[in-house]
Amino acid sequence: MTKKRILVTSALPYINGIKHLGNLAGSMLPADVYARYQRARERETLFICATDEHGTPAELAALEEGLPVAEYCAKWWAVQKQLCEGFGLSFDHFGRSSSIQNRELTQHFAKVLWERGHIEERTTRQVYSLDDKRFLPDRYVIGTCPHCNYDRARGDQCENCTRVLDPADLKSPRSALSGSSQIELRDSKHLFLKQAAFSDELRKWIGTRTEWPNLVSSIALKWLDEGLQDRGITRDLAWGVPVNAETWGPNPQGKQPDAESLKGKVFYVWFDAPIEYIGATKEWADAAPESNSRDWKSWWQGDSARENVRYVEFMGKDNVPFHTVGFPVTILGANEKWKLVDQIKGFNWLNYYGGKFSTSQKRGIFMDTALEILPPDYWRWYLTANAPESADSSFTWQHFADTVNKDLADVLGNFVNRTLKFTDSKFGQAIPDGGTPGPKETKLTDELERRFGIYSVFLEEIQLRKAAAELRAIWVLGNEYLADAAPWTTIRTDRNAAALSIRTAFNLIRLFACLSSPVIPFAAGAMARSLNLNPKTLLWPKGKIAEELVVLKPGHTFNVPGQGDVMFAKISPEQIAAWETRFGNSGA
Ligand code: MF3
Ligand code: ZN
Repeated sequence: MTKKRILVTSALPYINGIKHLGNLAGSMLPADVYARYQRARERETLFICATDEHGTPAELAALEEGLPVAEYCAKWWAVQKQLCEGFGLSFDHFGRSSSIQNRELTQHFAKVLWERGHIEERTTRQVYSLDDKRFLPDRYVIGTCPHCNYDRARGDQCENCTRVLDPADLKSPRSALSGSSQIELRDSKHLFLKQAAFSDELRKWIGTRTEWPNLVSSIALKWLDEGLQDRGITRDLAWGVPVNAETWGPNPQGKQPDAESLKGKVFYVWFDAPIEYIGATKEWADAAPESNSRDWKSWWQGDSARENVRYVEFMGKDNVPFHTVGFPVTILGANEKWKLVDQIKGFNWLNYYGGKFSTSQKRGIFMDTALEILPPDYWRWYLTANAPESADSSFTWQHFADTVNKDLADVLGNFVNRTLKFTDSKFGQAIPDGGTPGPKETKLTDELERRFGIYSVFLEEIQLRKAAAELRAIWVLGNEYLADAAPWTTIRTDRNAAALSIRTAFNLIRLFACLSSPVIPFAAGAMARSLNLNPKTLLWPKGKIAEELVVLKPGHTFNVPGQGDVMFAKISPEQIAAWETRFGNSGA
């Protein structure tokens, strides 16, 4: 298994709106930590993400901004890409679901699914707004709930009593766009993916995925247990991947699709979005046509992809059904040896003071403002150490500041700073010699060996909270070692003993930089550079930890941080108060 190539995808962020920290914590960031870890282990890794650009919300957001939707998407893709870079998200490619590659793949899948008999046509009743001159998606029809009389119920669900609705159920229905009640039901032909027929096959496959976290398999099985529904995969919209039924052959019953009635419709966003995982991989390959190392198919199709690639998906729990049922039906139904996911890492919610982060209500912290206030590693550390894995977790400024101050400033930062400064003042800017390691070093090495083993297992298993706790415990070992060896005291009587402790501490900095690099890559890079090392050379230890502690030799030079130059500045009570005022400190 260790020889496998690693394919990592993060759920695709919707194009509209800057993502909040909850989005980051529940898919993109953990995927990045995992991808960085796999690369440090020198496993061939491909990390793919993209913006999810189709659907009504994008159309409406563009309208509101007064931009053609294609321009709107191009603009916000660039913004999101830049913010992702700001957070150090190391995608090999950050694509767009509106790409030509995704359009072609989506149309290909639909054609094959039709020709294999997994798609059928149905005539459905859709709400048409005469004043808006368009069909309205269910959630853009509002009216009075037939169950609880709430007068702003949406056509897909009543917010007040949570019952699932059909727009036709609503009393006094009207358009959420214009408010007009000039609406009527019209017949419209649509394509349905016959998911129900895949129930047994899906159940069997899910049964083989014993490594899935409970959260994921229970959601997947719940859907199967409740009985899979066939799913409409087309919409009466202008923005999306056009339905290309005129290019399809007959289905197994010899029936041609009614291309004429399907003209002008697009695929449902949840049909084309997961296909963009593949589409973005093709974008990545197409971006460097001269490179023969970018063989997109070798990651996604054929026996070799199926056997030699380990495919891991990251997502919030609301996305799980689409990745355990929807997308797998597309893959299985096409029957073209496409790669199915191996591991799905699902996340609960990160809350803001116990309430929801909300894009529409602008509650919480968003990727742009987060980076304005503090460097990315502060967020990366907090969000990894408090990943909403087994339950929801709640952000508060106090908790955030406590975590950063204790872990990053007091433990890691302090260790690095005092080692560099003390050495500079007593030995100059090169690592001193100190003779052979003694019992203190042996004890340190044994403890490190044990914790390093556990840490690696947690990363391998993508148990991120536990991994972060273990990494912190590894940093603590450094502080304990220094406190015990006390070179600032021994130097008065035994310069050689102090030199040994210092040489060991420098090697610890190097080791910490390496082990911390998946979680806090910027700090890890800074640590490496202060040791005059290229961060890229920091690879995961392959042998004994004892060997890692003698890599930096006496005479190796380093850079001393300048006056007042600290790796992690502590967050002050004044800052907490100011941010609580600026961002709010309640869940409502
Ligand atoms: N945009 C969706 C969301 O934020 C996720 C899409 S994931 C993929 O919930 F399957 F489309 F890729
Ligand atoms: Zn209701």
